[in-house]
Amino acid sequence: MHTFILHNSKRSCFLPACLLTALGCVSGILAQAQSANAATDLTNQPPTYVRDILPIIMGKCSRCHNEQARFVYNWLDYRTAFEDRGEIKRRVWDSWKGIYFKESMPIANSPESLALTDEERLTIRNWVAGGALRGVAPPPGAPKSKAEKLELGRRLFTSICSACHQPTGRGLPNVFPPLAGSDYLNADKNRAIKTVINGRQGEIIVNGKKFNNSMPKFPFSDGDIANVLTFVYSSFGNAGLEVNPEEVKVLRAEPMDKVTGPPPPKNPYE
Ligand code: HEC
Ligand code: HEC
Repeated sequence: MHTFILHNSKRSCFLPACLLTALGCVSGILAQAQSANAATDLTNQPPTYVRDILPIIMGKCSRCHNEQARFVYNWLDYRTAFEDRGEIKRRVWDSWKGIYFKESMPIANSPESLALTDEERLTIRNWVAGGALRGVAPPPGAPKSKAEKLELGRRLFTSICSACHQPTGRGLPNVFPPLAGSDYLNADKNRAIKTVINGRQGEIIVNGKKFNNSMPKFPFSDGDIANVLTFVYSSFGNAGLEVNPEEVKVLRAEPMDKVTGPPPPKNPYE
């Protein structure tokens, strides 16, 4: 079981440390040198799939490139991504919206992959150039308090969910449903948990608007799902519910269509 601790922080530059040293700032030189070393190590470390690439893929590629997909490759699988790494680099780096492929993807309706940032593209290029390593998942750091849970959940939301549901949680009309003030989300916690465990396809009505799209199933741990949903429930004017890893674990064992908890409200379109 992996826990994805997501590193959003920009790679720190060690220039200030060097400058200080050059200025003869004697006190604290040791500390500065140590932090310079740490920064150098970080900079020289090639990105790894589990730590750096998978979060990008989950947010920006996985709606189409996922386990359920029939006709496109599943980039959520390391081996598949590794085998096709040259092609991935060519599309996102060498010919991004360029002549090799006129668009980032041959499908117009792909707002999330078009939102790929230059930093993410560079990370993908460096990953391929560095040997496309798999890496290992960071050890699961069980959050100690609700505040910590919210912080871990916020990071996961920012790096993954927000690519589709948007940083405001409001979604995109006709494409991605809102999480902000979502009747679907707030009516039934267990159903929301199952949505994140299993992904979701087909027609859905959220706040009276129809969506018919697909949310992939992500390789999240029970703790990741608990954190991110606790964050979502505590944000965007939602119900403020807390989700625990134990609840997620129980629901993993149940089939998707078995609705538990209170029934969803009747919607006027049915
Ligand atoms: C909206 C759906 C969609 C999204 C999102 C999407 N793709 Fe694709 N992708 C496709 C389809 C469909 C194909 C197959 C058609 C083709 O090869 O042109 C494809 C093909 C590819 C191929 C070519 C594979 C091969 O060897 O033929 C690569 C590489 C690729 N995608 C990478 C990515 C990456 C990286 C992302 C995320 C930044 C991404 N795609 C996001 C739909 C999508
Ligand atoms: C690749 C795009 C994508 C990503 C990333 C994504 N979702 Fe979704 N999500 C969707 C789509 C599309 C639907 C609607 C699926 C349908 O039409 O059946 C959806 C539906 C939902 C729903 C139920 C409907 C609602 O609006 O309340 C919840 C809850 C949800 N997502 C939570 C999350 C959370 C939490 C994350 C991050 C862990 C996340 N999603 C990441 C695309 C995405």
